[in-house]
Amino acid sequence: MIPLLKGEGFCYLIVMRRLLGFYLLIVPIALAEPRLAGLSRLHGDLPQALVGQALLNELHCHRCHDPEEASVPTPDLSEVGSRLHAEGIRARLEHPAITMPDPLHALSEEERAATITSLVHYLSSLRASEEATPLEGDPARGALLRQQVGCTACHGPTNESFRAAHYQPEGLTTFLLDPHQARPAGRMPSLQLTLREAADLTAHLQELRPPAASAPPRGGKGIEAGRLAFERHRCAQCHSQEPIWEATAPSWRSADLESGCLSVTPPAASPRYTLAPWQREALVAALKESASTPARKDDAPERLHTHLAQWNCVACHERDGLGGVMPDHDPQFTSTNLNLGDQARLPPTLTGVGAKLHPSWLRKVLVEGASVRPYMHTRMPVFARGPMETLSESLSQQDAVLEPFPQPQIEEREAREAGHALVGEKGFGCIACHPYKGRSATTLAAVELTSMTARLQKGWFQQYVREPSRFQPLTIMPSYWPNGQSTRPEILGGDPDKQIEALWNYLSRGREARPPQGVRRDPILLHVAEEAVMLRRQYPGVGKRGIGVGYPAGIHLVFDAGQLRLAALWTGEFVDASGAFRGQGSGNVQPRSRQVVSFPTGPAIARLTSPEEAWPDNEAKKAPGFQFQGYDLDAKRRPTFRYQFGDSAFTDGFVDQLSDAGEPTLVRTLTVSQPSAALYLRVAAHASITFTDGQYRIGDQLTLTPSRPGIIQPAADEKSILMIPLSKATLTIVYEITP
Ligand code: HEC
Ligand code: HEC
Ligand code: HEC
Ligand code: HEC
Ligand code: HEC
Repeated sequence: MIPLLKGEGFCYLIVMRRLLGFYLLIVPIALAEPRLAGLSRLHGDLPQALVGQALLNELHCHRCHDPEEASVPTPDLSEVGSRLHAEGIRARLEHPAITMPDPLHALSEEERAATITSLVHYLSSLRASEEATPLEGDPARGALLRQQVGCTACHGPTNESFRAAHYQPEGLTTFLLDPHQARPAGRMPSLQLTLREAADLTAHLQELRPPAASAPPRGGKGIEAGRLAFERHRCAQCHSQEPIWEATAPSWRSADLESGCLSVTPPAASPRYTLAPWQREALVAALKESASTPARKDDAPERLHTHLAQWNCVACHERDGLGGVMPDHDPQFTSTNLNLGDQARLPPTLTGVGAKLHPSWLRKVLVEGASVRPYMHTRMPVFARGPMETLSESLSQQDAVLEPFPQPQIEEREAREAGHALVGEKGFGCIACHPYKGRSATTLAAVELTSMTARLQKGWFQQYVREPSRFQPLTIMPSYWPNGQSTRPEILGGDPDKQIEALWNYLSRGREARPPQGVRRDPILLHVAEEAVMLRRQYPGVGKRGIGVGYPAGIHLVFDAGQLRLAALWTGEFVDASGAFRGQGSGNVQPRSRQVVSFPTGPAIARLTSPEEAWPDNEAKKAPGFQFQGYDLDAKRRPTFRYQFGDSAFTDGFVDQLSDAGEPTLVRTLTVSQPSAALYLRVAAHASITFTDGQYRIGDQLTLTPSRPGIIQPAADEKSILMIPLSKATLTIVYEITP
């Protein structure tokens, strides 16, 4: 009993079966307009004969008429029983998809049912030696993936073309992970899913259409009968593992093209295809043309377009006006970063892509699925290898390379340095949008800088960078030479050719290139445990003669061994040393605090004739008259610095302590070999210095408790100076940062 309920374009077949009682099983089948992801795109402005040629391949006509002609591979049935369950196989034989004809159409209803049943028995027995264990997926994640990675672009918004209900759950997961294994034609691409993602999609697709429950038939005569039917009905013509050399159908050259397989009611001997009228017309046109004329050279662009339609590239990409994302699919193309605009969301145009990408990279994209846009949710699918090799070659051949500009007069080293400056935040700031080794200056992240020159052809790069809107009218990528005038006239004299050459030169160094300015990076934190930690490197505001010391109590300093002064003080974490350890190691070590107290530059010790005399202004990196003599370490590796000024020798040590309130403090002990009332230590300089209860408050950041009071010299330049005469052999000062 097979009642048919007509639906929109397809219908539901309700099959009643007896299996431990009655089951009501609803199986959807595509009946009317043949729907196959891709083939429907062959319609349109493409030349009919080329469309027909593509269809001859897709519909496997050669298999019977001219088996020596190469044709698209058909599904591998050797493990079909592990992939599809018995009811799924039955549904496929009763209502084959468009690319598989119905060889049983002429049998009587009874004969047909019996033949199909034995074929189902036979095919269900073809199983993998090892069956995959099902992995429980999450249907909600699967639903999201289906929208995001690109399934909808080819399969449409509804579920019918997935036919997921025909599959065993683990069979569907295995199929989605590696679709080419079961369907070597590669029309269904690999979307480079993880096992988890494939399981999630399976859960989602089968949640909407639960698979039919049925025990696989095992063993018995049915199987042998099925195997015989498989041979008799020419199934092997398409599904044999071995190539078949014998034609089982007449040659087309003499054919009456409106008869046989192409007639609306085919004769019993030929299989029945479900063809739309436009497909039938295109096939006839192709057969007529192939009989008369060989392939022409000048139809190459059209041929390429036909291939792009056949593979359904045009569901996601546009090329010269052909295809592109359809308006009703557009919302499904999304990105992790909407601030980058549509370019971050929609797959790139294929117009001129052969001139844009190096042939080797184009091949990498098409054959290996190389990806450079992690922010794009939709994935570039991986199709069958052979045809993609051919397609990438013809894309490279069709698009004329853009010749690079004549090389401007510029030295290699100069170009590289200027390029480095231009890419960084103080130049054009490419780093604001394009990451360097995955990191950018902001949260925007377009294509990676370090692989640009490996991917792009030089001539294309030059023209694109000069005027991006010519290539992508709505791009947010700025133009840096409006009206030929550089927005950075100070670099390379503002010459656009030289600046573009400099960018290319710098980028050509790829991952070896010096990191551009402004790139965010992971810190290299130096932690302080039981003992003090010292790092002699370059510090901001100090230069190369900085000595950073991290103390276990959690207060840290930089001592300037050039100007012999305490340069900076902070609490919390010690330093981020990445500037010193990455790249060429010439960067600053950064104190890990937002609140670093810094002390005035210039020498901290001076001989004055009176306390009113202006503090000597000397910004020399190495203070004149001073001699740094090294340091000694105590048991906890805390340094005491030694230096000489005139005939006086100094020791200057810092010991960490916790205050009564539990705050970290540093106790400084300065000894002088020749104390003198004319010798002063400048302790701090600040607009606000107050003195109460033996304590100085320096702004609202710092509290100092010296062993004897000092002198506040009122400000000449807004900053008063606190100085303490070195009139005794020893001076101690407790430094505490105000939290
Ligand atoms: C499974 C094998 C098979 C496949 C696949 C097949 N055909 Fe046929 N075709 C036949 C056989 C057998 C005949 C002869 C029928 C007859 O003698 O009545 C035939 C006849 C024809 C004829 C009529 C030839 C004549 O001289 O009567 C045309 C035209 C034709 N096929 C076109 C096609 C096209 C186009 C395709 C692909 C869409 C195709 N066939 C796929 C087996 C096949
Ligand atoms: C480039 C277009 C394209 C994309 C993208 C695509 N498919 Fe397919 N898919 C196809 C084509 C074409 C077929 C039919 C293949 C064949 O006949 O060999 C197919 C077949 C299938 C089948 C088997 C259907 C059957 O009849 O057995 C499933 C299941 C499937 N796709 C799921 C997916 C899922 C899930 C995604 C997203 C992860 C996806 N497809 C993405 C084109 C695509
Ligand atoms: C003209 C070539 C051709 C002939 C003849 C042919 N098939 Fe197919 N078969 C295909 C193609 C193409 C597909 C993939 C279409 C689809 O289902 O999406 C297919 C799919 C199948 C599938 C589903 C495989 C899967 O993994 O989804 C089964 C089962 C199958 N064929 C069995 C048969 C049997 C049984 C016969 C003989 C009665 C037969 N085929 C004759 C081309 C052919
Ligand atoms: C499901 C949508 C989809 C389909 C179908 C698709 N692509 Fe893509 N393609 C993408 C996405 C997304 C990217 C960007 C990938 C990346 O760089 O991370 C891409 C990138 C590319 C690129 C690199 C372009 C560049 O400028 O970097 C080429 C070339 C390309 N695709 C060609 C093709 C061809 C040829 C086909 C058909 C055989 C095809 N694509 C089918 C989504 C698709
Ligand atoms: C305001 C953000 C922004 C800035 C700044 C920016 N770009 Fe872009 N750039 C983009 C976006 C967005 C794209 C398109 C990316 C895509 O196709 O996915 C792009 C594309 C490109 C491309 C084409 C890449 C490709 O493979 O398709 C190149 C080359 C390029 N930029 C170079 C640069 C250079 C060099 C600079 C600095 C001189 C720069 N960009 C500055 C946003 C920016």
